[in-house]
Formats: sequence, structure tokens, C-alpha cells
Amino acid sequence: MSKIKPSKGAPYARILGVGGYRPTRVVPNEVILETIDSSDEWIRSRSGIETRHWANDEETVAAMSIEASGKAIADAGISAEQIGGVIVSTVSHFKQTPAVATEIADKLGTNKAAAFDISAGCAGFGYGLTLAKGMIVEGSAEYVLVIGVERLSDLTDLEDRATAFLFGDGAGAVVVGPSPEPAIGPTVWGSEGDKSDTIKQTVAWTEYDSSKDKFPAITQEGQAVFRWAVFEMAKVAQQALDAAGISPADLDVFIPHQANERIIDSMVKTLKLPEHVTVARDVRTTGNTSAASIPLAMERLLATGEAKSGDTALVIGFGAGLVYAATVVTLP
Ligand SMILES: CC(C)(COP(=O)(O)OP(=O)(O)OC[C@H]1O[C@@H](n2cnc3c(N)ncnc32)[C@H](O)[C@@H]1OP(=O)(O)O)[C@@H](O)C(=O)NCCC(=O)NCCS
Repeated sequence: MSKIKPSKGAPYARILGVGGYRPTRVVPNEVILETIDSSDEWIRSRSGIETRHWANDEETVAAMSIEASGKAIADAGISAEQIGGVIVSTVSHFKQTPAVATEIADKLGTNKAAAFDISAGCAGFGYGLTLAKGMIVEGSAEYVLVIGVERLSDLTDLEDRATAFLFGDGAGAVVVGPSPEPAIGPTVWGSEGDKSDTIKQTVAWTEYDSSKDKFPAITQEGQAVFRWAVFEMAKVAQQALDAAGISPADLDVFIPHQANERIIDSMVKTLKLPEHVTVARDVRTTGNTSAASIPLAMERLLATGEAKSGDTALVIGFGAGLVYAATVVTLP
């Protein structure tokens, strides 16, 4: 028989606060047209994107994360010392080690919180949220900060017509903590590594030769990704609703990964979401910010009053890997 005492965690977990940081520089489609042969009309009609934000030198992955996290902590009504875990999801922090999460945990003033980075592309927020929920229910932390942060402008080839207009920068953060009732549903998540070539870095860092190669960037097979997102991710979203035991009519809000407005429209149609469901369309002015996109969109919906605290929301992220994660949450 085991001599180990069972862990004592909270019965359930909930998102208690959210915060976002959008870089000060707003970049309209006209700037993208300086380097690719396209048009504002084409970009808007194919992706829904009108503007995005690009970070300056001071708006580092850590700096943006600290800004977003400060807002999330204030929104949750707790202090930084109460945070027992900091999870940072990013693919655009260029220093391999140490994890940027440790610097963020320190600068925020946590009391030596456990801190680590994860790499799960555009599903990173859902992956982080699932880990945070586990930590709280298992009892290894009372409050966990989940941060999605990207400087994708550093990994964008501005001469690539398939991606130059898509990506943006920013940080979104949530505080996850104890709850007396279920407020984060079961996560439906997974990976399809057989499709790893459809979204990838052009050149590995070890193979990159600055004398002949362009700086590494994210490249993708646009149509293949589009088809996968439209057909497969609607199924995953439905599975997350089923796992939470609710129907589309029970939803108040839908916050899909902000990759492309046509993908969002298609998912809304396939899921047969009723008119009353508020759909996040933050992609129009934020572009695709990968791991940051869901918390940023969540923050904006709450700030504008389009969604309110206590609403039931379906969130789904999907992207490079390919990976995905969907769950139903109660909004903070
Ligand atoms: C990137 C995306 C908008 C491109 O749209 P698309 O309809 O697939 O575009 P295609 O590459 O098939 O090209 C269609 C036509 O538009 C043209 N085109 C491609 N890029 C263009 C651009 N930036 N501006 C203008 N025309 C463009 C092509 O030359 C082609 O012209 P043709 O029909 O005369 O040959 C689309 O594939 C997409 O949204 N994919 C998913 C992207 C995504 O969300 N990725 C992240 C997931 S996490």
C-alpha cells in the first residue's frame, strides 16, 4: 500500500481574471502592400484582417507578458504573491533557456512561483489552461497565471504573399484559481504530427546561414491549413460541447483562435450556433497572434461589454503541430 498522502486541491478551477497587451504600433494593410503584390480588398475579404499590432524593441515577450499579467491579476482581485504557477505559451521567445516564465514570475513579484514555458503554437492557451486547471485541482498551486504571448512580426517574411498579412504581436493572460463549481470543462485536445509540414519555420536555427538565408519565418500551406481548420476543428469544438454536457443553444460566447475570419464564419455555420451567441472577431484589428489570440479576444469582448462575467464560452485553439485544444469555460 502506498505511504503517500493524497494531494488536496480545490474541487474545481475557474478563470478569475483576464488582461491583454497590444503593442502601440498599429499596422494597416497599406504597410503590408509595400512588400507584397496584393490589395487591401483581397486581404480583408480572404482573412478579415484590417490592421494588426507590431511590437517595438521595448515591447519584448517578457515586457508584454508583464503588462497583460498585471491587468489579469488586478482583474482577479488577488496579489502576485498568491500566484503559485506561471505558464507561458510562446513560439517567439528567441532565447532557448532559461524559460521566459521565470523572469516574468520574478518581475511580477510572485513568491518563487513554479514557472515554465510551453510550445503549442496557436493551441497554446488551451494547453496552458488545461495544465493550470490540473495544478489547482491537484493542489500544487492555488492560483496559476496562463500567458499567451507572441512577437510573430519577428518570424514573418514580409515578402511572402501567403503569410505577410496574417500575423500580429501581443500578449493575453488569465489568472486561474479555485472554484466551488465546474467553470472549465473537459479539454478536447490532441496533435496531428503527420501534418507538421503544413505550418513550420522555414529554416532550423542550426541550419540558418545569415549570409545566404532570409531570417527564419513561419511558412504555411494556406489551403491545406484552411481545409483542416474548417472541417476538423468544427468536430473538435462539438466534442468539447458534448464533453461539457451543453448544446450550442446553451452558449453565450464563441472565442475561436483568431486565425482568419472565414474560418470563424465556417465554424459558426457548421456548429449551427444560434444568433444570440456572441462571436469573437478580434482578428480584424489584431491579426493572428497565435497563443495570445484567445485571451486577447476574451479581454476585448469583456471590455466592450459584448460579453459579461459568468457567460458560458466555447474556446478553441488550433495551429502549428498540428495541435488543437477546445474547452467550455465560464468567463471571468
Ligand atoms: C492564406 C489564405 C488567406 C490564402 O487564401 P487562398 O484562397 O487559399 O489563396 P491561394 O494561395 O489558393 O491563392 C488564390 C489566389 O490568390 C492569389 N493570392 C495569394 N496570395 C495573395 C495575396 N496576398 N494577395 C493577392 N492575391 C493573392 C494567388 O496567386 C491565387 O491566384 P490565382 O487564382 O490567380 O492563381 C488562406 O489559405 C488561409 O486563410 N489559410 C489559413 C491560414 C491560417 O489561418 N493559418 C494559421 C492557422 S493557425
